[in-house]
Amino acid sequence: MTIAQTARPLTQPREGNRIRVAILGATGYVGAELVRVLSRHPAVTIVALAARNRENLAIGDPYPHLASSELRIEAELPDTAGLDAVFIALPHGQAAGVVPQLIAAGTRVIDMGPDFRLGDPAAYPAWYAFDHPSPELLPGAVEDSPTTAVYGLPELHRDQLRSARLIASPGCYPTATLLALAPLARDGLIGELVVDAKSGVSGAGREAKLESLFGEINESVRAYGLGGHRHLPEMQQELRALGTDAGAVEGMLFVPHLMPMTRGLMATCHVRPTRPVSSDDLAALYRAAYLDEPFVEVAAEAPATKSVTGSNRARVFPSLDARSGRIVAIGVIDNLVKGAAGQAIQSFNLAVGLPETTGLEQLALYP
Ligand SMILES: NC(=O)c1ccc[n+]([C@@H]2O[C@H](COP(=O)([O-])OP(=O)(O)OC[C@H]3O[C@@H](n4cnc5c(N)ncnc54)[C@H](OP(=O)(O)O)[C@@H]3O)[C@@H](O)[C@H]2O)c1
Repeated sequence: MTIAQTARPLTQPREGNRIRVAILGATGYVGAELVRVLSRHPAVTIVALAARNRENLAIGDPYPHLASSELRIEAELPDTAGLDAVFIALPHGQAAGVVPQLIAAGTRVIDMGPDFRLGDPAAYPAWYAFDHPSPELLPGAVEDSPTTAVYGLPELHRDQLRSARLIASPGCYPTATLLALAPLARDGLIGELVVDAKSGVSGAGREAKLESLFGEINESVRAYGLGGHRHLPEMQQELRALGTDAGAVEGMLFVPHLMPMTRGLMATCHVRPTRPVSSDDLAALYRAAYLDEPFVEVAAEAPATKSVTGSNRARVFPSLDARSGRIVAIGVIDNLVKGAAGQAIQSFNLAVGLPETTGLEQLALYP
């Protein structure tokens, strides 16, 4: 994926003070979800969509629900001078090549992939099989630098996001897991941790793969990533930053499962607490943690993935299993919204000084 070297007129003129954005990887599931939500964002104009191999394709061709958009796919991003922000929804390793140029041009970047989520450059060859070309942009690399990446989970990094120029939007599993665990982590309650998570098949992207075929996933459930899923270091990084015991972080076990559904993700977190805790303590802890959060709701009972479908909402539910003495904390999200496009827009709103909920409140449950 490249950026045009010569300026060319953008497809749409600037309207008032609207923020002009482009979407890279617009033909993928996350890219299309960005088009869906940003098309109705009151302060944004989408001026360009880009993807590999699909030049001049109307976005409504692969996604008929986006047919009202006149935008066509381009092979490269237009000249960055006309862009205020670029949302990137490319496979891992692809954003790392284009982000430095965008940041140098003063364009705000919101990356949905993992290329700027991890603070430790050595984690990239270990988990993603590439050497990071711009370690100076990774979170925490340079103190107080306006261009180092901020991990885009507003519930954990809201203040940093307010001035972010490079936002590394979290993975879908880390979003549900960290929202389910953050109150326990902040309170030093996590002694031992197992996360058992389930995702709909859109989490694997739109590219054709044998294991994503209907005949393979329908009426079937499968664990994968045994021995180490790529989202593990990201969860460990954030749990560590929240003050979780180092032994609990190192010994954390994460097992994802693929479910026979299109959207939705549930993280069921099994925690051996560091001290005795009551159900009332847990309820009070979660209520206090999420009282003012616009998109996190403490559920009254174990939530289903369907209760957040299509919305930017996360629902969390802590409970105490009295017989084992363990806490079970559950988080559910729509992997394509709070787990990707919606959350990215929530962080973008913060970064550009808009109310955090702009363009996101109207998203339907049960679309
Ligand atoms: N799916 C989720 O639930 C989810 C949640 C959070 C984060 N993410 C992250 O978001 C990113 C996009 O995920 P996705 O599910 O939307 O994937 P996807 O459906 O496979 O879409 C990937 C997009 O990137 C383009 N692309 C693929 N390979 C490319 C390459 N080598 N060079 C340039 N462009 C390429 C594709 O273009 P073509 O149409 O031409 O193939 C498509 O537009 C990934 O980093 C993923 O980890 C996904």
